[in-house]
Amino acid sequence: MNSILIRNIKSLVGIREANVRLVRGAEMKTLPAMEHAFLLIEDGIIKSFGKNEDAPERADEIIDATGKFVLPAWCDSHTHIVYAGSRENEFADKINGLTYEEIAARGGGILNSAKRLNETSEEELFESAWQRLDEMKNFGTCAVEIKSGYGLSYEGEMKMLRVIRKLKEKSALTIKATFLGAHAYPKQFKSNHQGYLKLLLEELLPKIADENLVDFIDVFCETNYFSVEETKRILEAGAKFGLRPKVHVNQFNILGAVKMCVEQNALSVDHLELISDEDVAVLKNSETIPVALPGCSLFLKIPYTPARKIIDSGLPLALATDCNPGSAPSGNMNLVNSLACINMNMTAEEVINASTINGAYAMEVEKELGSITIGKKANLVITKLASSLTMLPYSFGSNLVERVIVNGNS
Ligand code: NIG
Ligand code: FE
Repeated sequence: MNSILIRNIKSLVGIREANVRLVRGAEMKTLPAMEHAFLLIEDGIIKSFGKNEDAPERADEIIDATGKFVLPAWCDSHTHIVYAGSRENEFADKINGLTYEEIAARGGGILNSAKRLNETSEEELFESAWQRLDEMKNFGTCAVEIKSGYGLSYEGEMKMLRVIRKLKEKSALTIKATFLGAHAYPKQFKSNHQGYLKLLLEELLPKIADENLVDFIDVFCETNYFSVEETKRILEAGAKFGLRPKVHVNQFNILGAVKMCVEQNALSVDHLELISDEDVAVLKNSETIPVALPGCSLFLKIPYTPARKIIDSGLPLALATDCNPGSAPSGNMNLVNSLACINMNMTAEEVINASTINGAYAMEVEKELGSITIGKKANLVITKLASSLTMLPYSFGSNLVERVIVNGNS
């Protein structure tokens, strides 16, 4: 048995009962904490915590957290971190005034990444994604959902999913895989949607399910990408293989997909830079969590997801990076939290809830991660010296994470 004792913690933050799966509405303002606390880890699991004076005397390792906060590590429920090369030439185009849609129409965008991915070896893809994961861990992230969707061919998608499987096997971080074959129509299928859907649903999906390569299914439901009808067809096909949807919706246009996603028992609806009153109404009393991606809003200069409208209507909200080469080339959850405070008027407590327990829910790991709960995995952030928790999002662009413990190891 291996034990680690963290003592003299200024404040132990995000303490929740085991039955709390997510927090919604006004509950998000509260972040249950214990001042002057200890936390004991045994074999990678939170064994106990309490007031510092009740701390056990001995442990294999003792960490002194005087003046520091301890909180659950971030759960980043929406990323595309397996990709080849970068898209900094499009960044330059964007500076010169082109929009995301205009860049895509010129052959840039997702198709540009797909071309590069198909030319890149599995080993290279693994290596670059591994480095991104490592950087994300240093920013305080312990769980990452990773999507396919830059293959857009049978071999390309399989290659991406094998890379994600290898990341799952080798990384200490908790990883979930999502099939996003429906990220864009490849050029050769531009006027043959039926042909591409056939490839996705009749050839790829059964193979992927057979090899147990993914946990969820996703579609980029958007004008010039996949229609609501096409999205529904893909989600129904995924459901036959037991895959729950996590769907890109309402990024540039409201097409009415949120209602359909809720009806398809989606785990999450992501982006929502635009959201209608009807969308809010259908999300109420549903099991579907909205996920906001403020890094994408910053990078593309598009509206921020209206968090106040969502939370003040009583809904839950999770935050994620969307880390990808085209619309959000950053896996930094600390920056995401700052952006959500600055541009979405969320409080420090709300962003921490959104990035921990609600992020965990949005990738179905809330039973093992996302809060300080006895029996959960000891995936923790120890901050640098900080006068209050608000210092974390306040210090935008800095990283106030001093140490990250993943399954009891740092
Ligand atoms: O979540 N919106 C669709 N997919 C990604 C962007 C992908 C890309 O541009 O490469 C997103 O923003
Ligand atoms: Fe995305």
